[in-house]
Amino acid sequence: MTYEYERLGGGLVVPCVRLDLSRSNGPRSAQDFKHRIFEIVDREGALLFRSAGIDGPVRYAEFLATIDFRHHSYVGGTAPRTDLGRGVYTATDLPADTTVMIHQEMAYLDAIPDYISFYCHEPPPEGQKTHLIGDMRRLSAELPDRLRTKYRGKHARLRRTLPPEGSESVIARRDKSWQEVLGTGDRQEAAAIAAREGWDLTWTAGDYLVFVQEPARFFRPHPVYGELWCTQALHYQAAARRLVAERDGRTADARRLAAAMAAAPDTVDAMVMEDGSRIPPEDIAAWFELCLAAEVAYALGRGEVIILDNMLMAHGRSTFTGPRTVYTALGDRAGQPPPRCSTRTSSSRTAHVLPG
Ligand SMILES: [Fe+2]
Repeated sequence: MTYEYERLGGGLVVPCVRLDLSRSNGPRSAQDFKHRIFEIVDREGALLFRSAGIDGPVRYAEFLATIDFRHHSYVGGTAPRTDLGRGVYTATDLPADTTVMIHQEMAYLDAIPDYISFYCHEPPPEGQKTHLIGDMRRLSAELPDRLRTKYRGKHARLRRTLPPEGSESVIARRDKSWQEVLGTGDRQEAAAIAAREGWDLTWTAGDYLVFVQEPARFFRPHPVYGELWCTQALHYQAAARRLVAERDGRTADARRLAAAMAAAPDTVDAMVMEDGSRIPPEDIAAWFELCLAAEVAYALGRGEVIILDNMLMAHGRSTFTGPRTVYTALGDRAGQPPPRCSTRTSSSRTAHVLPG
């Protein structure tokens, strides 16, 4: 399998291969090169499949099966997503007016997927560059010594207050219910999952759930590059969401966040240090500026796919106009122990439209 390098901008270069992935039984060439595909992703951080010709999520699932993509469950995940089955999800159901800042997938947990893949089913009109990417090797190197020293060896826990299914906030603001996040509506089953994962669950009045997830590392080892910054602790903060709302011009959201932070900061979802202390706003603002400077926007064409190493390359999505449909799948490296969540299929809104 031969590949070239494509310059996405901002000095970020990714390997790019042109393979016809459109045939129904999966391309033999992709199967032949499956080990090579992941070897390239592990070393380069990404592999872009241009002109791949994938014509729908079924074919995307078949392509992933062809290369033995080991699916990682989204149980415990925070993003609103629709689960199509066979490990394929909508990339995000967040509205088009909201930027998703570059981040490493699920890095608010200690068990994260090694890979994340995106398939563009319907690109937005006029060639809008809506996919964001950032090189975490560069970001880790640019991290101020003050932050590196302060957070090395530390852990943070994601604390959320989740509404029950059918509540106003789930319907109106597309919040995730606790049933959706845990993949069950049964409190006993939820408690068993939580015990296995190291999560704390406390139900409060009105069937709301205070959900504290396991301590997650700030730095983690990558098999090729060694220790890298890998956390959403400075992202998953009301102050960070407010900065994003201001960036997007969503003034009502920015005001709502400011009011919630002033009135009852403990009820606003956030990552909190393991000892219970809060991450200071100046650290959140510094990280936001670093991410802004590192992000590079690019476009995936119709039928094209990218596979990212989830530690080496952060991903995000810009705001956009018009229709846009992108699907995603999360994966684990071969030879790794199966993820702790692997027995369950999903925590997302379930459509299960894919056969098999
Ligand atoms: Fe993501």
